[in-house]
Amino acid sequence: MQDIRFVYNNALTTEQLSSYSTQAFAAQRTLEDGTGKGNDFLGWLTLPEDIQTQLSDIKDTAALLRQKCDYIVCIGIGGSYLGAKAVIDALSSSFTWLEDNKPHILYAGQNIGEDYLFELQTLLKDKRFGIICISKSGTTTEPAIAFRLLKTQLEKQTGKDAARELIVCITDAKKGALRTLATEEGYKTFVIEDNIGGRFSVLSPVGLLPIACAGFDIQRLIEGAARENSLCSSAVDFAQNPAAQYAAARYDMYQQQGKKVELLANFNPKLHNISEWWKQLYGESEGKDGKALFPASVDFTTDLHSMGQYIQEGERLLFETVISVLGQQHELSIPANKANLDGLNFIAGKRVDEVNKMAELGTMLAHVDGGVPNLKIEIPEISEYYLGELIYFFEYACGVSGYMLGVNPFNQPGVEAYKKNMFALLGKPGYEQQTAEIQKRLSR
Ligand code: PA5
Repeated sequence: MQDIRFVYNNALTTEQLSSYSTQAFAAQRTLEDGTGKGNDFLGWLTLPEDIQTQLSDIKDTAALLRQKCDYIVCIGIGGSYLGAKAVIDALSSSFTWLEDNKPHILYAGQNIGEDYLFELQTLLKDKRFGIICISKSGTTTEPAIAFRLLKTQLEKQTGKDAARELIVCITDAKKGALRTLATEEGYKTFVIEDNIGGRFSVLSPVGLLPIACAGFDIQRLIEGAARENSLCSSAVDFAQNPAAQYAAARYDMYQQQGKKVELLANFNPKLHNISEWWKQLYGESEGKDGKALFPASVDFTTDLHSMGQYIQEGERLLFETVISVLGQQHELSIPANKANLDGLNFIAGKRVDEVNKMAELGTMLAHVDGGVPNLKIEIPEISEYYLGELIYFFEYACGVSGYMLGVNPFNQPGVEAYKKNMFALLGKPGYEQQTAEIQKRLSR
C-alpha cells in the first residue's frame, strides 16, 4: 500500500536537505526521549497505540448519540474542535447540509458571535439534538457560554433527565469547572489526558468522538496514524523519513532562504479545514520568542483568482507546501460541445481532475518562476486511513521543527494576554487592578 509522500522538488537540493540530518535527528531524539522543553506534553506521540482500549467505548457512545439525535453540537475552541472539524469536513459530501444524512454535526463555542448562537438556537428549536462539550481546562469562556445556552435549551426541550442522556463531556480527569459540572449532573465523560495538549488531541476522544458521531471509521484513522508513526520515528533514516525531511526543509526556508510565511495550499476544497487545523498546530506550537514561520493557507484554484497575484508577484516572503491528492472518489468527464463557443473542446473527454492536476502543476511551476519555492505532500486519496497518516505526519514534524527552532512547541503562553484584558473589561472579580489600568489607558 502506498503511503503519503514528502517531495521537496526544486525548493532545495538533496545535499542541502541532507545537511540538516544530524540536527533533525537530534530533535527527533529529544522528542522521543522526552528530554526537551514541554516534555510533560508528549502523550500524543503514543496515542495511536494507547487509544486502542477506548475505541469501543467511543464507538458505542457515538452510536447512541447517532440514534437519538438529528443534530449533534460539538462545543469547543482551538484544539478542542479544529481537528474533528478538519477530518469530518474532509470526509463528508460537500453538500452534506442539504442532504438527508442525519445526524448533522454542528459547532459552537468556537466564537462569541451573538447572531451565530442565536441562529443556532433557532435552528435547534424543537429538534432532536445532543451536545458534546469539549474543554481540557474546563474553564474556557467561549465554550462555557455556548454550553450554558445549549444545555438550558436542551433541558427545556426534553426535561433534565432526558437531556442528561444527550450530553457528553470531554475534559480533564479531575480538575476544571466542566469536570465538576459533569460529575454533579451525571454526564457521560471521556478524559483528555494531562500530557496531551489541545492542538495535539485529534487522535484522542476529543477528535474521535465527533468523527465517529459523523459516521466515519475511527479505527482506520488510528491505523493510518500508527503506520505514519512507524515511518517518521528516529529509527527511520533521514533519507527515507518524510517528517524529518519536512521539518528540515521548513528550517532551511526560514533560516537560510529568509522566508517568513509558509502557505499551505490544496487543490481540493475538502481540505480547507485541514489547513485551519494545521495553522493552529504550527502557529501555536512555534510562534513564540519572536520567531517562526507564519502559517497561512490558500484553497486553489479558488484563491488563484484572489491571492494568486500576490503569491506570484508580491513581497518575496513566501514558500508553499502543496497537499496533493492523487486519487478522487468520483469520476466526471468534461462533455464535448458542438458549438464550442467557450473553446474548451480541446479538453472534452478529459476528467475534471486531470484539468485540476494540470492547474496544480502549472501553478507550482509559475510560483517557482516567481520566487516562491514549493514543497509537496502527496496523499493517495482522502480517506480515514490517509488522513490518519497526514495528521500524525504533521504532528510529529511539528515537534521536530519546534525543537530545531529552539522553542517549546507544547506551550502557548501568548494565548492568555487577550483573556486577561477581556476579563478585566468584563469586571471579573480579582481583576480590579487590571481593570483600572485598562480604563486609564483607554481614557488617554
Ligand atoms: O491547543 C491548545 O491548547 C488550545 O488551542 C486549546 O485547545 C484551546 O484554547 C481550548 O482550550 P480548552 O480545551 O482548555 O477549552
